[in-house]
Amino acid sequence: MTTHTPPTIIAFASPKGGVGKSTACLSIAGALAHMGHKVQIIDFDQTQTLWRWYATNDAARNIPGLTVEQGPQGDISSFVEDVYYKRDGYVLIDLAGTLTNQMLHLAVFANLTITPAQLSEPDILEANKLSVQLQEIGVRIGKPIVHRVLLNTVPFILASSQAYMLEQIDANGIARFETLMHYRPAYSESFLTGVPPHFADRGRPPMAKAAQELDSIVNEVLFAISQDQQKAAA
Ligand SMILES: Nc1ncnc2c1ncn2[C@@H]1O[C@H](COP(=O)(O)OP(=O)(O)OP(=O)(O)O)[C@@H](O)[C@H]1O
Ligand SMILES: [Mg+2]
Repeated sequence: MTTHTPPTIIAFASPKGGVGKSTACLSIAGALAHMGHKVQIIDFDQTQTLWRWYATNDAARNIPGLTVEQGPQGDISSFVEDVYYKRDGYVLIDLAGTLTNQMLHLAVFANLTITPAQLSEPDILEANKLSVQLQEIGVRIGKPIVHRVLLNTVPFILASSQAYMLEQIDANGIARFETLMHYRPAYSESFLTGVPPHFADRGRPPMAKAAQELDSIVNEVLFAISQDQQKAAA
């Protein structure tokens, strides 16, 4: 008899649009695929950013181990079952930038939910709102929900308001990745070339630096998931 290991599921969710969910999802997917993992991106956003990226770029479809598909609309119960019992590797879910029941359902189902946010008050407030809501749901269902903020499009030199924001995030104990995802045109370039930084020309210093930053983010992602799995097994 063979036993099936369910996939590791990572959701990219935020109640606010344009914060970098699709960019982070694609870049992290590229890093995981580059490590040799099977990575399935499921695009739940009606704007279909990642689905269109995949469907229109030959280079994207040639990345070994990486696929993109469209998520179902409406009821997702059978989809959740299908993913859990029939898939393996990593499943990355890209969601629309609005708070919906579907988003909350998928966050509960995921091993980790990542909310990209800029170092700005509205982004941090929205990210924190989602974090609090997920914690409350976790308490109700008796399953802690692992949520992390990924600070994104961070400039290399912080304005004093941004430095203050960063202090406030940490003072308030908002769970975030230590690695900052900086503002780097190399990330946006993936949408034009069809390849995320790990599969781009890493002889180019901006690409190499983006890939290095992503490696550090992926290490933190895998650590957060492993901590959660150890807690669940204990
Ligand atoms: N770290 C970054 N450096 C440079 N540009 C970035 C970075 N992250 C995101 N962007 C750019 O910001 C814009 C918004 O990013 P993205 O589409 O990933 O956001 P989103 O949260 O998925 O938006 P939506 O809510 O519309 O789905 C894009 O043009 C993307 O290329
Ligand atoms: Mg998006």
